[in-house]
Order: sequence, then C-alpha cells, then structure tokens
Amino acid sequence: MAFAVPVWLAVQQELSRHSEEDPAEPSCLEDFDDETLFQLFHLTRPCIAFIMDAIRIRMKTVTSRKPLPSVEAMVMVALNYYAHGVFTPVVLQKAGVNQSVSITSTTSTVSGVIAGMSDVFISFPLTVDARNRTAGKVEQFCGIPSVLGVVAPAHFKIRASPYERDSFKSFINALGYTSVVSQFICDSEGNILSVEKCCVGSTFEQDLWDLSFKGREVEEELHGPFWFIGGKGYSLTKHILTPVSQPNDSELSFNDAHAKIHNVMRQTLGSMKRRFKCLMQLGFAEEGSLNKKSNIIKACSVLHNIAKKFSVPPLPEDVNFEPLYPGKPHSTAAEINPEALQARKELIERNFSVLTSKQDLKDGDANKLSPTDSNTAQEDM
Ligand SMILES: *[C@@H]1O[C@H](CO)[C@@H](O)[C@H](O)[C@H]1NC(C)=O
Ligand SMILES: *[C@@H]1O[C@H](CO)[C@@H](O)[C@H](O)[C@H]1NC(C)=O
Ligand SMILES: *[C@@H]1O[C@H](CO)[C@@H](O)[C@H](O)[C@H]1NC(C)=O
Ligand SMILES: *[C@@H]1O[C@H](CO)[C@@H](O)[C@H](O)[C@H]1NC(C)=O
Repeated sequence: MAFAVPVWLAVQQELSRHSEEDPAEPSCLEDFDDETLFQLFHLTRPCIAFIMDAIRIRMKTVTSRKPLPSVEAMVMVALNYYAHGVFTPVVLQKAGVNQSVSITSTTSTVSGVIAGMSDVFISFPLTVDARNRTAGKVEQFCGIPSVLGVVAPAHFKIRASPYERDSFKSFINALGYTSVVSQFICDSEGNILSVEKCCVGSTFEQDLWDLSFKGREVEEELHGPFWFIGGKGYSLTKHILTPVSQPNDSELSFNDAHAKIHNVMRQTLGSMKRRFKCLMQLGFAEEGSLNKKSNIIKACSVLHNIAKKFSVPPLPEDVNFEPLYPGKPHSTAAEINPEALQARKELIERNFSVLTSKQDLKDGDANKLSPTDSNTAQEDM
C-alpha cells in the first residue's frame, strides 16, 4: 500500500460518501482528451473528478448564494492556475470567466475551500496503531526506529516591494531571495502529514517549530515517544533528531540513514512544485496578507496527497533542481539538551554501531546515496 493510512482512509471515506450521490463525470471535462487534461491540470481525469466532487459539496455549505460561474468552472480555473502559475486561455474560455477580477477572486475562493479540506486530507497518525505503522515504514526505509516523519521549512518565492525596506528585508531568506516559509512534515512515502501557516522568509526553522501547533504538541509528548527527522537548522531535542556534526564511523552510518529519510522531504517538495508550478512564484506579498499565500500552499498540499492516492504520474524533473534551504548554523554546542544527546547516542550505539556484525542499512542502501545527500554537504534543509 503506497499511502499513509490516515490519508488512505480519508480518501476512502470521501470516495464512498460521494459515490452515493453523483458519480457522473463533470461535463466540463468531456471536451478534453486525457493528454490535454494532464497538460492543463497536471492531474488525471478521475483525480480531477474526485476533487470537483469534494469541493462541490463544501461549496454548497460555504457560499449561501449561488456562485455565478459553476463550481466546476471555478475549480477548473483554480486547478489550471495551480498547475501553471498562470491561466490558460482555453480553460478560461471553457469556464466562461474572462475578467481578471473574477478570475482572481474565483481562485482565492477555491483555494480557501481546498485549504479547508486539510483536516481530512492532511492527517497525522493519531492512534497507537497508526503511529506504529508509520514508524515501522520509516524504520524499514532507513533503519532508524521510532521516527514518525521528517520536519522541514519549505520556502516559496514571492515578490516584495523593495521600497518598503523593513518588510522587504523580513522576506529575505538564508538563500538570499524573498520568500514565505511554511513548516512541513511528511512521512517516508512523501505523504504530507502537516502544513502550518506561512511566515516571512527570514523566519528560522527552529522558531517555526517552537511556534507551531505540531511542534508544541510533539514536544509536550502528545504524539508519544517518537522522533521527527530535522536538518542542521534544528536543535536536537527528545523529539527532533538531527545529524551528528562531527561524526565518527558509527555516527557517519547514522548520518547516512538520516540523510536518506531527510531527502524524502526534498523530493516531496520538489514533486509538489513541479506539479503545482504556482508554488514557484506566489506573487506579491505584504506582511499583513500572508493568509492567501497560506491557503494556496495548503491547497496544493491537499491536492498533492490526493494526487498520490490516485497515483497520478509525476512531472519530469527540471535540470536545475530547487536548492535546499541551508539551515541556520548553531552558535554553540552548549545549548544542546544532554538528555536528547544521550538518547541519540544510545540510538546510534543500538542500531548504527559499525562494530556490530550486522549492518543496519539493508541492500547496500548506503551506496545508493549520492554525495549530495550527505549531511556534511551544505545543502541541508
Ligand atoms: C467576456 O465577458 C463579456 C462581458 O463581461 C461577455 O459578454 C463575453 O461573452 C465574455 N466572453 C467569453 C469568451 O466568455
Ligand atoms: C506498537 O509498538 C510497540 C513497540 O514496538 C509495541 O510494544 C506495541 O505492541 C505496538 N502496538 C501495536 C498496536 O501494534
Ligand atoms: C534497532 O535496535 C533494536 C534493539 O536492539 C532492534 O530491536 C531493532 O530491530 C533495530 N532496528 C534496526 C532497523 O536495526
Ligand atoms: C562513535 O560515537 C558513538 C556515539 O554516537 C559512540 O557510542 C562510539 O563509541 C563512537 N565510536 C568511536 C569509534 O569513537
């Protein structure tokens, strides 16, 4: 099974709920052949039909008055925008919207509705059983036990006015461009388990974690005795597992496993940005107006999880792959929680000691890691 259980269950529930009502394919899709559909929306026909259905039901409850363009038309326009970051004339024509005001407001309405579906389609493993399964898959994947997922900051380019100097500066991230940043958590299969609201690009990932709902829940032990994999920009805690900075042989073997699972986040964000090109450039932002950006980011995350469930083919990789966020270097080692340090040490001794007879990485996985995956390189998130 290729999907995290919560996501899978959620989709199953949605599917069965909807199939009783209106299984017919939306008529607006009929004119497009499969290939054209994929080009316009980067999604497949059954996936789009499912999304339209899910939105139609919510739109009824959200908007009291009848929306002027049909829900299908609105969704088509929005999905087309997510896929390309611009509107394709043939879709606008088909949808019958041709004024930029209505196009923009349509898209932002749909984004709000899809973002609101996060509670169903972006789900954390909440039961003992679900956690065990999720952690079991991570352990199978990289050999590190008791890990639920990977946490990382995801940066999305925006434009900001250089004339508003303070605000402009706040958007500049460690890679030197203006962005907004959201905290993402994904599992070992690239399902998104959590996305939090976006902040200005200069926000450090540790601050995101400290301020996030999930960060607080996790550190307060609400999600059990599990780790989340974090890059060098995070502080090691009892729940954030960071790579060892000056590793010996055993620690190196641990770092390799850490890099392998950490890399899943990079691939997940990369595949999301390729499918939903609007994420490559989210347009103008002022500090006060981050909610709309947040809705688009959450909407694309919901759609990413749904697309995975429907096994929609990935988009081809670009040559110049998105660089990774380098992470804030820690000034001193003194701040490190000694209890967490001890826990990581024990984990390494137990599962990554190179002196034991049995190597923990199976199938020569370590050899498959490219040099850039190593946490000693500077591309860490
Ligand atoms: C464009 O909008 C005008 C009125 O705003 C309308 O009369 C016309 O039919 C629209 N065109 C298309 C292609 O939808
Ligand atoms: C979850 O894992 C723990 C530790 O491996 C084990 O003791 C427990 O029985 C498991 N629970 C379930 C429901 O599988
Ligand atoms: C890690 O160590 C524990 C305790 O020795 C063992 O039960 C578990 O199977 C090990 N996991 C891996 C992936 O080696
Ligand atoms: C490497 O570090 C681990 C703890 O992270 C420690 O248990 C082990 O003894 C160290 N190995 C050597 C050869 O120093």
